Amino acid sequence: MDAVTIEVHTAHTSELDIATLKAIRVLLHEAYEGDMSDHDWDHTLGGMHALVWEAGVLVGHGAVVQRRLLHGGRALRTGYVEGVAVRADRRGLGYGAAVMDVLESVLRAAYDVGALSASEDGLTFYAARGWQVWRGPSSVLTPTGVERTDDEDGGIFVLPVGVPLDLTGGLTCDWRDGDVW
Ligand SMILES: CC(C)(COP(=O)(O)OP(=O)(O)OC[C@H]1O[C@@H](n2cnc3c(N)ncnc32)[C@H](O)[C@@H]1OP(=O)(O)O)[C@@H](O)C(=O)NCCC(=O)NCCS
Repeated sequence: MDAVTIEVHTAHTSELDIATLKAIRVLLHEAYEGDMSDHDWDHTLGGMHALVWEAGVLVGHGAVVQRRLLHGGRALRTGYVEGVAVRADRRGLGYGAAVMDVLESVLRAAYDVGALSASEDGLTFYAARGWQVWRGPSSVLTPTGVERTDDEDGGIFVLPVGVPLDLTGGLTCDWRDGDVW
């Protein structure tokens, strides 16, 4: 299927009804093979969603939520990508790319930088789209101070938008419950 024929709907979390939220959660639960905590779900909410429906069934999703990333002495307004998933039997048809096209437009228009933490499946997918691996040390601003997040090094991607970035420098994310990146 040609990517241009894929219709992607966008909506803020506040515009989604209970049935749609449930459909997103089910899609994510299946796509991540159950590795989807309540915190992961919470991280997906509060921003803009991109949704692909096929015959009334949700087959693709992704979201951009706002976070602050500290880098080079600045607190960058960051469009953080969460919950990107395509139903297993619909992969390889361009749905994931169509979802990302829309999310990248959102973050180019509204944020200083795009960022995400990639799954194994996502590493090649995002790199092919021009997302760049953060090569410097990552950390998180916890309630008790900055802590290194060594385990995340190599899996954090950024999409530079307007602000110059030194990809070998430090990158610190704001605090949240669950996985911080
Ligand atoms: C990653 C994912 C969203 C890709 O969705 P998709 O609809 O299959 O992707 P597309 O069909 O739009 O593929 C776009 C391009 O990425 C490539 N690609 C997609 N998945 C890939 C993978 N796992 N490994 C390598 N390349 C991949 C495709 O070959 C295609 O390349 P092309 O443009 O050269 O043909 C999907 O595999 C998925 O839902 N995975 C499970 C959940 C997950 O890990 N999400 C990412 C969270 S960070």
